[in-house]
Amino acid sequence: IKVLFVTSEVAGLVKAGGLGEVSAGLPPALRRRGIDVRILMPAYRDIMARLPAVVWCGDLPGRAAIPPGRLGRTQLADGTVLYLVDTPSLFHRRGTPYCTPEGADWEDNHLRFARLSLAAADIAGGRAGLDWTPDIVHANDWPGGLTPAYMRWDGILLPTVLTIHNIAYQGNFAPGHRHLLGIPDSAFDINGVEFHGQVSFLKAGGFYASHVTTVSPTYAREITTEPHGAGLHGLMQGRAAQGQLSGIVNGIDDSWNPGSDPHLPHHFDPDDLHGKQANADVVRTGLCLRPSSGPLFGIVSRLVHQKGLDLVAGAANDIVENGGQIAILGLGDPEIEHMLSCTSRRHRDDIGLLIGFNEPMARRIVAGSDFTLMPSRFEPCGLTQMQAQRYGALPIAHATGGLADTITDGTTGFLFSTLTPEGLAAACHRAFDTYQDAAHLQAMRRAAMARCFGWAGAAAEYEALYRRLLGRPLAPGG
Ligand code: ADP
Ligand code: GLC
Repeated sequence: IKVLFVTSEVAGLVKAGGLGEVSAGLPPALRRRGIDVRILMPAYRDIMARLPAVVWCGDLPGRAAIPPGRLGRTQLADGTVLYLVDTPSLFHRRGTPYCTPEGADWEDNHLRFARLSLAAADIAGGRAGLDWTPDIVHANDWPGGLTPAYMRWDGILLPTVLTIHNIAYQGNFAPGHRHLLGIPDSAFDINGVEFHGQVSFLKAGGFYASHVTTVSPTYAREITTEPHGAGLHGLMQGRAAQGQLSGIVNGIDDSWNPGSDPHLPHHFDPDDLHGKQANADVVRTGLCLRPSSGPLFGIVSRLVHQKGLDLVAGAANDIVENGGQIAILGLGDPEIEHMLSCTSRRHRDDIGLLIGFNEPMARRIVAGSDFTLMPSRFEPCGLTQMQAQRYGALPIAHATGGLADTITDGTTGFLFSTLTPEGLAAACHRAFDTYQDAAHLQAMRRAAMARCFGWAGAAAEYEALYRRLLGRPLAPGG
C-alpha cells in the first residue's frame, strides 16, 4: 500500500505539539509493516538548512491566488521519504509553522496551507511530475483539511483519511477567501466547506474525506456531542452513523526510555528507582526549590486554556500545604504564564516555573516527578500522560478523551471527573495517600512503567483502516 501522509509538522524538523510527534512516529511504524508511506510538508526556511541533499523532483502549479511551487524530495534519518512543498513567498520566514515570531497567526495561513493541500491533491492526481503516486491520502488537522476537498473537486477518486488531532483548531477564514483558494462556489455550502458563514479547512476535510479518524476512541465519541464538537458535532454524528468516524490512540517514541534517555542525568528502571529520586533533586535544584522528601508534581504543557492549568493554580495552596512541590515547564498564552508565575511567586520554595519549549528539560521533569498533573478540559489523545507512565510519574488527569483511554484509574494513575480545583485537589489527596504507602506506590509505578505505548499498535489499526478503504483485506496469516 502506498500512502501520502500530509502534515504541517514533523518532530525533529519542526514541532509545535503532539501532531509533530505523531508525524515522526507513525510513518516509520507503518513502514515496518511494509507500507510505503511518504510524508508531504511545507519547506519551511528553518528546516531546509538542516535537511540532507534535497532533490528537486516536481512542479506544483498555482491556482487562483495560491502561488506555484516546486517539489523537493529527501529522506529522513529513519529512511522515510519526505516531499517538501517549496514556495518561498509562503514558507521562507522566521517563526513557527503557524505564527510570526511575535506569536500572531500568519495573515496568509489560508494560502500557506491551501498550498500544502493542493500539492497533496496534485501528487495524488499524478500532476506533480513525480514517478510515484499514492493509493490513499492521509491528511492531518486543518492545515491538511482541504486535501480531500481539492481531490474531490478535481475528480481524483482515491480514498482519503483525515485525522483530527484537535477539533478546536479549525482553520476558519473569511468567506471571500474562497475565491483566492479556487474553491468552487457550489462548495460554499453547509454540505461543503461553509461553516457559520466562513470557509473552514477542518470542516472541508471532515466533510470530503472518505473516513475521519481522531486520536482516541473516547474523543471520537466526545466530538459527536455539543460540548466537545466545537460546532462540528452534527457533521461528526453523521460520519459516525455511517461508520466513518473512529479513534486510534497514538503511541510514543521509543526514546522515552528511563533506562537509556540521554537527556537524563540519572537512569532508572522499575526495579531500581534511586535514579528517579536523583533526577527529582536535580529538578529541585534547577528550579531553586527547597530540598524535600515530599512528592514532586510535574507539568509539561503548552500553556493554553485546553490544558486546565487554572485548576492547578486553584489547587496549588492545597498541594503545597500537604507537603507537595510542583515543577512546571510550559510555553504559550501570556495570560496563563502570568497566572502561573503569580502562583509560583507565592510559593517560591515549592513551585518552580520555567517558560520555554525545551525537550531535554521536559524529559528531566517527567523523570524526576512522582506525579504528573493533567487537568485538561479536553484531550484528544495526549502524549504527556503516556510519557509520564513510562517514567513512573503517575498521571493525575481529568477523565476525558485519550486520558481516559490510556490511564487505568488506581492502577497506573488517578482519574477525576469533577473539573474544579477541588476535584483536582481530591485526586491529589489520593496521590498523597499512595505516596505514603511505599508498597502501593511501587506497585503503581511498576504497572505504569510496564505499559506498552509504542507505535506498533496504532500502525496496525491504521493499516486495517487503509485496507478496508481500499477493499484489500489482509491475507489470512498476513
Ligand atoms: P498537545 O499536542 O495538545 O500539546 P500532547 O500531550 O499530545 O499535547 O503532546 C505534547 C508534546 O509536546 C509532548 O511530547 C510533550 O512532552 C511536549 N511538550 C509540551 N510542552 C512542552 C514544553 N514546554 N517543552 C518541551 N516539550 C513540551
Ligand atoms: C493534539 C491534541 C493532543 C494529541 C496530539 C497528537 O495536539 O491536543 O491531545 O495527543 O494532537 O495527536
